[in-house]
Amino acid sequence: MSDLRKVPGPVPATPVTLPGWQVDFVHWPYPSVIAHRGAGRLAPENTLAALRLGAAYGHTMFEFDVKLTGDGKPILMHDASLERTTNGRGLAGAATLSEIAQLDAGAWCGPAWAGEPVPIYANVVAWLLANRMLANVEIKPSPGRESETGAVVAMASAMAWHGCEIPPLLSSFSPEALAAAQRVTPALPRALLLHRWPSDWLAQLRRLECVAIDVNHEILDRERIQQARGEGFRVLTYTPNDPARVEQLREWGVDCVITDAVDLIKP
Ligand code: G3P
Ligand code: MG
Repeated sequence: MSDLRKVPGPVPATPVTLPGWQVDFVHWPYPSVIAHRGAGRLAPENTLAALRLGAAYGHTMFEFDVKLTGDGKPILMHDASLERTTNGRGLAGAATLSEIAQLDAGAWCGPAWAGEPVPIYANVVAWLLANRMLANVEIKPSPGRESETGAVVAMASAMAWHGCEIPPLLSSFSPEALAAAQRVTPALPRALLLHRWPSDWLAQLRRLECVAIDVNHEILDRERIQQARGEGFRVLTYTPNDPARVEQLREWGVDCVITDAVDLIKP
């Protein structure tokens, strides 16, 4: 297990040496359902409590959002600001890890969750590996820190999963973050997140050497799915929560759904 306190802030100049993880159409190792932010809306998002609840519902792979504190440490948090999901104020990217560690990330979701901390990424990885769980790590940079976040999260992930059979799937809406991950840990599989279709989406996927595209289900249709798969990319989609919609997406050919409905849609 790596010690994230030793992960340097600056972008490394050369790739680290990695085991040859292979993730493609032949070796695709991930389940067809991923629990979004741990347990969707049934627990405080992006906390260990949420991951435990998702696992109690039978999930084996988890999506969560990772960004950097002001002092460059990876933590789980979706928003750039602290207000919605913690009792803190201001920007997550402006607070130190020791300040973040004081915050309550559970009470906003209900009194039963009070006292739940903001997870340090290293602690989440420890839980995942100890419980043989899989991860879709969404790199969620604070604005202006795309390359730094991509590089630090990718490097931390590569070291943490070193020697493990199935690597985490890295994803991001930020091509810059994915490019940094590609540069420092080329063997870790990547997926480009899309909430709309840019005209050059296929070129972006190829340039970033992604294994998959991860698309808002509201802009997906059968033709796009078949086009992406025909070009050699797996198709993931977020965040369908209606079982009938999930059935339709599967029938159209999606490989994997990322859902909040962890109690209704099981792996
Ligand atoms: O990674 C899929 C999904 O989480 C992307 O959107 O805003 O929920 O992080 P968001
Ligand atoms: Mg996310």
